[in-house]
Amino acid sequence: MTTFPDPANPRIPGMIKSERRPGLVEAAEDVTVFLKPLIKSPKIEVGEFTYYNDTENAAGFEDNNVLYAYGPERLVIGKFCCLAMGTKFIMSPGTDYHMPGGATSYPFFIFGGSWLEKTADLLPNLPSRGDIVVGNDVWIGREAVIMPGVTIGDGAVIGARSLVTSDVAPYSVVGGNPAKEIKKRLPDEDIDRMLRIAWWNWPAEDITEHVRTIWSATPSDLEELAKKIGRLGG
Ligand SMILES: CC(C)(COP(=O)(O)OP(=O)(O)OC[C@H]1O[C@@H](n2cnc3c(N)ncnc32)[C@H](O)[C@@H]1OP(=O)(O)O)[C@@H](O)C(=O)NCCC(=O)NCCS
Repeated sequence: MTTFPDPANPRIPGMIKSERRPGLVEAAEDVTVFLKPLIKSPKIEVGEFTYYNDTENAAGFEDNNVLYAYGPERLVIGKFCCLAMGTKFIMSPGTDYHMPGGATSYPFFIFGGSWLEKTADLLPNLPSRGDIVVGNDVWIGREAVIMPGVTIGDGAVIGARSLVTSDVAPYSVVGGNPAKEIKKRLPDEDIDRMLRIAWWNWPAEDITEHVRTIWSATPSDLEELAKKIGRLGG
């Protein structure tokens, strides 16, 4: 019988335990959670098996890590992403409500009263950088900050403490402030292969059966497998 974690349960009881110092065994299933079943906002979408790790409050991701989500903009995160502790998504209003193009960054309207009345007609024209979109199989390092309007491609890696201000290409590794490409994870032909294979869209049973190959084989071996089992293209 094969088993794999239930993506509808934020807690992952089968997780291996880690011991940070003698005698202190972390309750792994409390610090690493699947996000999809925890999300309540219709403006946030997270794919199955994407997890967030946080020794303080992993279950508080939606409130503590998705910031300034006052507008219509969405945060869309794919499947099988790894989000390290302190990852923050700065949604558009956090920037755009401060910069309507005038001479001040002070957001008078948010305080109501005459400050709102005298500016209300301008509000529909507030700028927006749009949604934040994160692909599948993306690893975001500790305390990285993702700015509004950014799209991160499938298979990308975001280095610890990066400030991501522009789009990140699939299967690239970026780091720094502002984040710049450090390298590609794979040669271009293998990136194309991985995007064709899109293993994250396979049924969980197929992923489970072939987990060793997905985790350790070359992209071309994985492509052969995908062809063999009729799963090229997810
Ligand atoms: C980005 C990362 C994956 C790169 O690892 P790597 O492929 O082994 O790369 P290297 O350590 O060989 O570094 C390559 C270059 O990138 C730079 N670099 C590495 N990490 C960086 C980061 N977070 N920000 C900016 N630059 C970084 C290095 O200084 C080096 O630059 P150089 O070539 O000019 O000397 C890794 O450094 C990282 O940040 N991992 C995230 C760790 C984390 O947050 N874990 C949380 C628990 S899951």
